[in-house]
Amino acid sequence: MVQADRFVREAVDEIAAEAGHHRVVIALSGGVDSSVCAALASRAIGDRLIPIYVDTGLMRKGETDRIARMFGHLNLRIIHAEDEFISALAGITDPEKKRKVIGERFIRVFEREARKTGALFLLQGTIYPDRIESEGGIKSHHNVGGMPVEIEFEKVIEPIRDLYKDEVREVAGALGLPPEIQHRMPFPGPGLAVRIVGEVTREKLEVVREANWIVEEELVDRYLPWQCFAAILGLGTGVKGDNRVHGWIVSVRAVNSRDGMTADPIEIPYDVLGIVASRITSEIPSVARVVYDITPKPPATIEYE
Ligand code: XMP
Repeated sequence: MVQADRFVREAVDEIAAEAGHHRVVIALSGGVDSSVCAALASRAIGDRLIPIYVDTGLMRKGETDRIARMFGHLNLRIIHAEDEFISALAGITDPEKKRKVIGERFIRVFEREARKTGALFLLQGTIYPDRIESEGGIKSHHNVGGMPVEIEFEKVIEPIRDLYKDEVREVAGALGLPPEIQHRMPFPGPGLAVRIVGEVTREKLEVVREANWIVEEELVDRYLPWQCFAAILGLGTGVKGDNRVHGWIVSVRAVNSRDGMTADPIEIPYDVLGIVASRITSEIPSVARVVYDITPKPPATIEYE
């Protein structure tokens, strides 16, 4: 790729030119893509940048506090929209419909905030694989295919639209962002909703959020994976005490990848998997079963929906 330093200079100039004298809203998620965009835009337009973090209720455990800590210096607005997202998802089981609903809500929340601030432009951290997967009809990324046609912003600026993830990480380094952000695992725009097969409910969200936390605690430092997480597959039978009970089936996934387009499962020894499974079933009593997913991409995707 072009040199990271040069990319930074050019992207800052491009954002400054595109934004003109306008205020710009950015969807800050705390991942490497949106953090890089916020840092570039902050250099380009200073406090005319209005970063907004939406707590969709679909985020990882502790995420909102973490974002507040890391980006508080940037005039960050934290929007609590958990109820709005979770009600909008009620009863929806089709994966594409879930993505569309989340994408649409997202944009609406931004429009609402932008109206309050007078911002006419939206800046997004869309990267190259997001665009080609959406254009190819594989799935609609919430930040691409799910965007309602009648968007109220005058302009959408996408400064890292031509970069792959590893290139974004290089740019993060060139910008001096902390390693915690630079090396953070990707997290999908629709959040934990794509780690719940079928309808999203508050109960399933709590379970998957806690299971994800455990998986990250046990596997991130050990394997430095491209991604590791937990997903809920459905209900199954288990035994608690003397009784057969219904409990959630949780799948653990840990993969390595270069750009998310293909991926290989990590060969995790049984004893480590055993620790993960026993922590999940004991710390989350409603889980009856834990499985480890050994499918590469293709044929499977990384996420479950
Ligand atoms: P899949 O599941 O398609 O995921 O193999 C490939 C990579 O993309 C991430 N992903 C998303 N990222 N919006 C995003 O911003 C989305 O809708 C989305 N869906 C998947 C996924 O976590 C993996 O890194």
